[in-house]
Amino acid sequence: MDSIVINGGVPLRGEIYIAGAKNACLALMPAAILTSEPLTLSNVPNLTDIITMSQLLSTLGLKVEHNPQTSEVNLQGKKITCYKADYDIVRKMRASFLVLGPLVARTGQAEVSLPGGCAIGARAVDLHLMALEKLGAQLELSNGYVKAQAPRGLKGSVINFPVRSVGATENTIMAASLATGETAINNAACEPEIGDLIDCLVAMGAKIEGKNTGSIRIQGQTSIGGTRHQAIHDRIELGTYCLAAAITRGEVTLKGCKQGLNEAFLNKAKQMGMHIESEPNQLNIKCNADRINPLTISTEPYPGFPTDLQAQMMAVLSLANGTSEIDERIFENRFMHVPELNRMGADIQITGSKATIRGVRKLIGAQVMATDLRASVALVLAGLAAHGTTTIRRVYHLDRGYEKLEQKLAACGANIKREQL
Ligand code: UD1
Repeated sequence: MDSIVINGGVPLRGEIYIAGAKNACLALMPAAILTSEPLTLSNVPNLTDIITMSQLLSTLGLKVEHNPQTSEVNLQGKKITCYKADYDIVRKMRASFLVLGPLVARTGQAEVSLPGGCAIGARAVDLHLMALEKLGAQLELSNGYVKAQAPRGLKGSVINFPVRSVGATENTIMAASLATGETAINNAACEPEIGDLIDCLVAMGAKIEGKNTGSIRIQGQTSIGGTRHQAIHDRIELGTYCLAAAITRGEVTLKGCKQGLNEAFLNKAKQMGMHIESEPNQLNIKCNADRINPLTISTEPYPGFPTDLQAQMMAVLSLANGTSEIDERIFENRFMHVPELNRMGADIQITGSKATIRGVRKLIGAQVMATDLRASVALVLAGLAAHGTTTIRRVYHLDRGYEKLEQKLAACGANIKREQL
């Protein structure tokens, strides 16, 4: 199994190109189920999650061509030949559940494994199911699968989400695009990846209003067509490299990012002592403070501080000049990086959903193990700043979400390599 080995202490200097957003692509790809025409996506990162989604869509009968050289994926489902998303694939990647809505909408039937819990929490799918039922699907749960049927098609409805869910909003938008009549989604999530899905669906012929708001209206169509669509850049990769510059007191230019970072993240980064200058399609990041300032952060749905940057921010704050507090409000078990950071000399305590991070002067390299994608990359950031050698095991987590991680960091001077142990 591969490991990442880092000799820390080198300030990052250079340029990094930000890839297309994994989470946008994982919703855009299932949108191809909705039409028999071709959907071509560009700016798709070459990641194992994308390969997993390609495999799943192929099993359903779609023709999928992924060209990592051009970052394009061509998808076409002239005919859907299978309605089942198997446990083996859904347990590997929760986003597989996003095929449920489009499958029922196009074919009137679907059988998708329930994802179950994962390392960062229980992560229910009740909201996805509630919305589909509201749209008229008959659901039956048996043997760990949800079987959905709508032989006469889905019908528009009013859906009031009690909490905002990215995946449930995406599943519902896709399903409602082919329902009869109007659907109103209230308390919808408004992450930029949902806006990207809406742009793509509208280009395919769907009628959707309310992009980037919590209130989305969809006029269902009898059919929609194909299109070409460029995925937005990965704001979580962008934030991760910003924080890599901060933890190493480096100076990096992040390219290929049209929309930049959200205010909640930028404000915290500035409070911490980072300098962030925005130019068209790039961000110039500098952090030359001797010690960074401590922060108080709560993770929230967009436009709040993203849970997907919480672990990386904690790695940086472990070296702050004072005590920081992080309240993780999205996932109940997203602190698995804490014991590993503490093994590197950090001083972090957890009480319920809150972590108290007492800043230390230095981290020391160690052998560490990661349990999920963002926890793994937080350990990479810690390793970049630590004295001595850090070895991170279970690199397959990183390969799910960070394209060419070692190459991008090494190009900025980091002493980092992948080893087979
Ligand atoms: C997506 C992202 C993930 C990110 C998360 C929150 C993708 C592929 N993944 O995950 O990287 O961390 O948004 O920004 O886009 N919930 C329920 N019932 C449901 C659905 C969700 O209780 O039916 C809860 C979840 O357990 C969680 C919260 O709602 O506590 C938010 O989850 P959600 O927004 O659905 O996350 P995902 O779409 O799974």
